[in-house]
Amino acid sequence: MEKDIILPRHIGIIMDGNGRWAKRKHLPRTAGHIQGAKTFKKCARHCADLGIECVTFYAFSTENWKRPKEEVDAIMKLFSEYLDIALDIAGDEIAIRVIGDPEPLSDNLRKKLDNVVAQTAKNTGMICNMAINYGGRDDIVRAAKKIAEKGIQTGDINEESFSQLLDTAGLPDVDLIIRPSGEQRLSNFLIWQAAYAEYVFMDVLWPDFKDSDLDRAIEEYSSRNRRFGGV
Ligand code: IPE
Ligand code: IPE
Ligand code: MG
Repeated sequence: MEKDIILPRHIGIIMDGNGRWAKRKHLPRTAGHIQGAKTFKKCARHCADLGIECVTFYAFSTENWKRPKEEVDAIMKLFSEYLDIALDIAGDEIAIRVIGDPEPLSDNLRKKLDNVVAQTAKNTGMICNMAINYGGRDDIVRAAKKIAEKGIQTGDINEESFSQLLDTAGLPDVDLIIRPSGEQRLSNFLIWQAAYAEYVFMDVLWPDFKDSDLDRAIEEYSSRNRRFGGV
């Protein structure tokens, strides 16, 4: 990568295009998800090596339950492997976190998520955040429910305090959102947190996403002029 690059503190990655990758190879969609998990491993490692503070991987949206049951089941099974992979690369360096509503997930998966998060909680390197059953709107609705449940007064509600009720509490806002697969939309990912994010859309399908694609996206980010509404 070029010198003098401005690194984003928080990168969000929409891991999209697994199904199309498999279709092109005349394989079942599940094969794309398996290959996607491998890309996840390489990409998380590369982010940590670059010195990124936090990266959030969009793995399953609140809308992805609409898919055929066999595909959803296969993806849920893969998450267990994703977590093993995540734990493997985490070592004593990376902290694994999870965002999204764990409620509809199986007991086994929930236990595993809790374990992995607890096992890596003391790590002070990069935060590797997995968005599983995550929806930006759902994140905001759950935050609003917390306000009602805790009886928080209107005078105490502001952008800062509201942010701390979201799943990403304590994390910096996402600076760069990368979406491979050619689609140019957010698909309900981090909609609050991305208020001033830079977007990089790429034609590569997620299973083919290389370290050099990440470098390219970061270089593009670094070349943008972020104004945050100022001049
Ligand atoms: C992303 O790949 C994985 C999930 C949404 C779980 P897709 O499965 O959406 O792949 P395409 O978009 O159909 O190619
Ligand atoms: C977004 O991809 C969700 C994840 C990658 C987890 P989708 O494939 O679900 O998004 P749409 O349906 O194309 O908007
Ligand atoms: Mg897709």
